Amino acid sequence: MLILSGPTLAVAVSEAGGLGFIGPGAQPEHLQKELEDAVALVSQSKRLASHLATSGVLPVGIGIQLWKGDLGVTVKILRGVADSHPPCAVWLFAPRRGQEEIDVWSREIRAASPRTRIWVQVASTQDAFGSAHSADTPDVLVVQGTDAGGHSRVKSASIMTLVPEVSDALTSTYSRVPIIAAGGIGDGRGAAAALTLGAAGVALGTRFLATPEARINPGYQRAILAGRDGGQTTVRTQLYNHLRGTMNWPELYDARGLINASWRDHVAGMSFEQNKELHDKAVPKGESAWGDEEGRTATYAGTVVGLVKEVKPAAKIVKEVRETSKAILGKTLEFLGSDT
Ligand SMILES: Cc1cc2nc3c(=O)[nH]c(=O)nc-3n(C[C@H](O)[C@H](O)[C@H](O)COP(=O)(O)O)c2cc1C
Repeated sequence: MLILSGPTLAVAVSEAGGLGFIGPGAQPEHLQKELEDAVALVSQSKRLASHLATSGVLPVGIGIQLWKGDLGVTVKILRGVADSHPPCAVWLFAPRRGQEEIDVWSREIRAASPRTRIWVQVASTQDAFGSAHSADTPDVLVVQGTDAGGHSRVKSASIMTLVPEVSDALTSTYSRVPIIAAGGIGDGRGAAAALTLGAAGVALGTRFLATPEARINPGYQRAILAGRDGGQTTVRTQLYNHLRGTMNWPELYDARGLINASWRDHVAGMSFEQNKELHDKAVPKGESAWGDEEGRTATYAGTVVGLVKEVKPAAKIVKEVRETSKAILGKTLEFLGSDT
């Protein structure tokens, strides 16, 4: 998650047995320092330090938004750490030129850092199929449904239909690329469902915004905790990008965020110029720029927001998701077995 997931959150997730990702930074050059900070944190964990020492790979991934990434800078940084602490994975998302651009990034990253695995985030069966059968097949496909917080494809389906359809499409063509389901998963129940649908694992974003480790403004975090009934209180739009001055996201994408005063004024017919003026006055006030009533700035969050009720350490979330999903799947097997 852009800026919000830094080394502290990513390492905490990995320490608990998940795989944490450092989100894209404000500038591509920031990756260097983020990786250095991750190495320092990993060295404080006996388990992760031993992993790094034996595998030679940093047990943390990094995320890149291709449309505003810098391939040259990224490759240079990855080449510099390839022999000592390459990130175990790079998560590629949002190309401006589709799979062709993903292929170029994949090829260059693999050449610079051969031990780094390529994860590609997609949101349609067609894109998943195209990616799995591309010239530079990814190691993992993250299949993201419409419930997800932050940016995704404007036209999208929930993981309920997307994951099994992608799974069928890949299986029928003997693709062995594993699927990670993302979008709408906030606890072990969602994870168990996604595994049942054909995913090999799950990715959570919104849930981790309510952790002490997230790099998040307290006003933003409070808005996440207050959010309920995500289908009614979040919206997919480019409005919040535009209010923040980010005008050039590729048109295929919009972002899901909590509805606030800016959205309500937009719907009521306020001009963009006036809305932006109010937004720009609210932002310097800090924490009050977020929130349902008076908030005006982007509060990216998924429909799962209604399940996020308290701030919890990232490690606790990872363990609960793992243990609850195992228990649910075990009980389901037991229940089905008892019927026969
Ligand atoms: C605030 C926020 C920022 C995000 N930023 C990015 C990003 O920069 N790149 C990316 O690939 N995904 C991004 N995501 C998506 C997450 O990586 C993840 O796939 C998604 O949040 C999963 O859905 P969920 O929010 O329902 O858990 C972001 C999500 C949120 C909530």
